Amino acid sequence: MREEIKRIPEEALAKQQEYMRLVRFHPDRPKTYYIVTYGCQMNAHDSEKLAGMLEEMGMEPAGERTQADIVLHNTCCIRDNAERKALGNVTWLKEIKKERPELMIGVCGCMIQQEEMAKKLLKQYPFIDLAFGTGNLYRMPEYLLEAIENKSRVIRVDQESSTVVEGLPVHRESDIKAYITVMYGCNNFCSYCIVPYVRGRERSRRADDIVREAEGLAAAGVKEIMLLGQNVNSYGLDSEESISFAKLLHRVTQTGIPRVRFMTSHPKDLSDELIDEMAHNPVIAPHLHLPVQSGSDRILHEMNRRYTREHYLSRVKALRSAMPNIGLTTDLIVAFPGETEEEFEETLSLVEEVRYDSAYTFIYSPRKGTRAAEMPGQIDPQVASERIERLIAAQERITGEILSDMAGQTVQVLVEGTSRRRATQLTGKSGRNINVNFNGDASDVGKIIPVRVTGAGSNTLRGEKEI
Ligand code: SAH
Ligand code: SF4
Ligand code: F3S
Repeated sequence: MREEIKRIPEEALAKQQEYMRLVRFHPDRPKTYYIVTYGCQMNAHDSEKLAGMLEEMGMEPAGERTQADIVLHNTCCIRDNAERKALGNVTWLKEIKKERPELMIGVCGCMIQQEEMAKKLLKQYPFIDLAFGTGNLYRMPEYLLEAIENKSRVIRVDQESSTVVEGLPVHRESDIKAYITVMYGCNNFCSYCIVPYVRGRERSRRADDIVREAEGLAAAGVKEIMLLGQNVNSYGLDSEESISFAKLLHRVTQTGIPRVRFMTSHPKDLSDELIDEMAHNPVIAPHLHLPVQSGSDRILHEMNRRYTREHYLSRVKALRSAMPNIGLTTDLIVAFPGETEEEFEETLSLVEEVRYDSAYTFIYSPRKGTRAAEMPGQIDPQVASERIERLIAAQERITGEILSDMAGQTVQVLVEGTSRRRATQLTGKSGRNINVNFNGDASDVGKIIPVRVTGAGSNTLRGEKEI
């Protein structure tokens, strides 16, 4: 299944630079842009690259999408509702386009990378002017120029998804926290998941490129980096460099960045080396997102997760014995095809046993083309809702208990901003990735400061600045 990684050569990128210049000086180009982003951090970071390219072409962000000259929808298709939301918003914009025909509507991201969806959009959404997939995002300037010059729609979704592109301009959302993608794609083919089909095979960036990017961010005063990959634990396995994720992480922490996080870790290959690095490196935040999906061995097997409940719990034990204060979070799916009440209860009991700080909970959503979509025993929606409610209730209780127990502790908070309601109320995240609110002044924004926890809400902590 190993596919040649196509590293996009510098010349190809130089060509796109030239297209960017041509768009910039084109009299008919859009002047303002708006990007609507759905889905995970990968998509959020792709949107930062899209914004970087649009700005390089001379465009400015519009305050609202109804006022923009070009609106790009960077879509997600992980579950049916993600897709419906995106399609709903694209359709809604059609009405605005009736009043402002010059408005360009673009669609990109994972949803459009599905072949059938691309065909459907082409036919049923004639008002879409521009569409491109996840693997050829870097060619957006070329497609945009073509659309402007020919005054025609340009739909380019090809299967060129196994690429790695270095050196795209990036317009980052925040100057306090930044994303760095360490690897693209996924090889795991969990039976329910569409990601391997729309993001292609695993491709690791070169360690030197990643470290250089981190050094640049550190020099620019960024305080926290999040390293991104669908399964960071398999970083490097596809490349000629034999460097493990733990070693890469170590190198990134040596760049002067005060805090480093990463996601996502697949439990099947969470190594002792990584646990050891986390335990001994104070720059790495004491938090791990470790999606378990289910507590039942039979369901895990059907999901093709390739670990057992026992293996997962033994990893949790290893993490907690190395780092008693680590915060664990997870993803959970209920109502996978064939899931019985007893199997669901095994998920509930696992949640009680691990005691996660928080969890993302999902009702299984069949994705066309995946193995699970063809499995017998699809669960009745009412049973699914009842299960997810029970799961959410259990997790909310546990979160409440964990947060209340933190009273009196001192946590290190990266201050991200002031509260919308009061300028003296600051808000930020602890190392364990928990929201903390406390009084302070705006000059603290962008600093990591110790805060003593005084109380807890349902999913936030309250505290006082330690002097
Ligand atoms: N690579 C990450 C997950 C990315 S998708 C990992 O393996 O942990 C984020 C989460 O969406 C998954 O962890 C899973 O819980 C959920 N998810 C993925 N496909 C889904 C589907 N078809 N229905 C419901 N939830 C799904
Ligand atoms: Fe999807 Fe599994 Fe890959 Fe995560 S590891 S992206 S859940 S296939
Ligand atoms: Fe969605 Fe694509 Fe991310 S399907 S969750 S945006 S990788």
